[in-house]
Amino acid sequence: MKMKVVSLFCGCGGMDLGLLGGFDFLGRYYHKLPYEIVKAVDNDMYCTRIYNDNFDTKCDVADVRVLDTVSLPDFDLLIGGFPCQSFSISAQNPPRLGYKDERGKLFFEMVRILKEKQPKAFIAENVKGLLSANKGMAFPMIVKEFENAGYHIAYKLLSSYDYGVPQKRERVLIVGFRDKEQFENFEFPKSAKTKHILKEVLDLAADNEEKWYFSDKAVEGMMNVREKMNKGRIQDPELPCNTISSHLAKVSLNSTDPVLFVNGRYRRLTPKEAARIQSFPDTFKISSVSEARQYKAIGNAVPPVMMWYIANSVANALKCQ
Ligand SMILES: C[S@@+](CC[C@H](N)C(=O)[O-])C[C@H]1O[C@@H](n2cnc3c(N)ncnc32)[C@H](O)[C@@H]1O
Repeated sequence: MKMKVVSLFCGCGGMDLGLLGGFDFLGRYYHKLPYEIVKAVDNDMYCTRIYNDNFDTKCDVADVRVLDTVSLPDFDLLIGGFPCQSFSISAQNPPRLGYKDERGKLFFEMVRILKEKQPKAFIAENVKGLLSANKGMAFPMIVKEFENAGYHIAYKLLSSYDYGVPQKRERVLIVGFRDKEQFENFEFPKSAKTKHILKEVLDLAADNEEKWYFSDKAVEGMMNVREKMNKGRIQDPELPCNTISSHLAKVSLNSTDPVLFVNGRYRRLTPKEAARIQSFPDTFKISSVSEARQYKAIGNAVPPVMMWYIANSVANALKCQ
């Protein structure tokens, strides 16, 4: 029996792809999982265009804050990587506002829908900074809110590298079950046996395309301030890639985003490489929006392969497979 799923803040669908399964990545088939998406919502018309190119259920371009629960179909599982900018340690300007910030409040939307619809379970994802936001005060409050909505809560900081993704990306996963027995059945997934590194997903053809290289001026600018800031983060292809983010779209070298060093020159990752670093299969279509929008959507996504492991563990606990 398939569990019906509502996906909030679905973005381009990294979480959703992992949840559904049925795709190949680096020589392994991630089998289909017993879920079907009955509703997906995001307010960004560009990432949702990517979503709609890849999923049968089309995404509503809408603000979750005005989502009327009465209009929602019945469902068993709520998923959402609630927007994380305000919880992120890297968001320094303005300084970390955590849940006091307007965007930080969006997790209350998940709580509202859980309270009103009482699905069997939920999966929420967020940045590592959530654990320490507001001097460590935000996270216990978030857990309490989920508990008050009627759920038994498990959470863990996971690294995508441990789950077959060629990237070190640490994310907090919060899983809740209404039923105590199902909660007690749940275990976070064990690490995958096979680990992957950056080299496996690089597109060597891009080495020959001038457009991916940073200009001499951009490199010079970076060199001048390199000591002060953690700039020009050259990746070792023999290791997993550092965390990629939506900032990859920027053409400057003034960030902490991963870059490649090819034949003595700095080159950016292509959108295709960024998607592979996030464990999207090459069959995932991203080209209907500009490259800048592709980087943004891909950089924001939950790695599908990591999500597959979590969704599989949740399905086991719900005994629906
Ligand atoms: C971290 S991304 C989610 C990525 C997605 N889970 C994935 O795996 O691809 C957060 C998303 O929340 C969306 N968002 C932000 N505020 C929103 C709002 N008020 N209503 C609906 N979506 C919103 C953003 O457009 C963004 O796509």
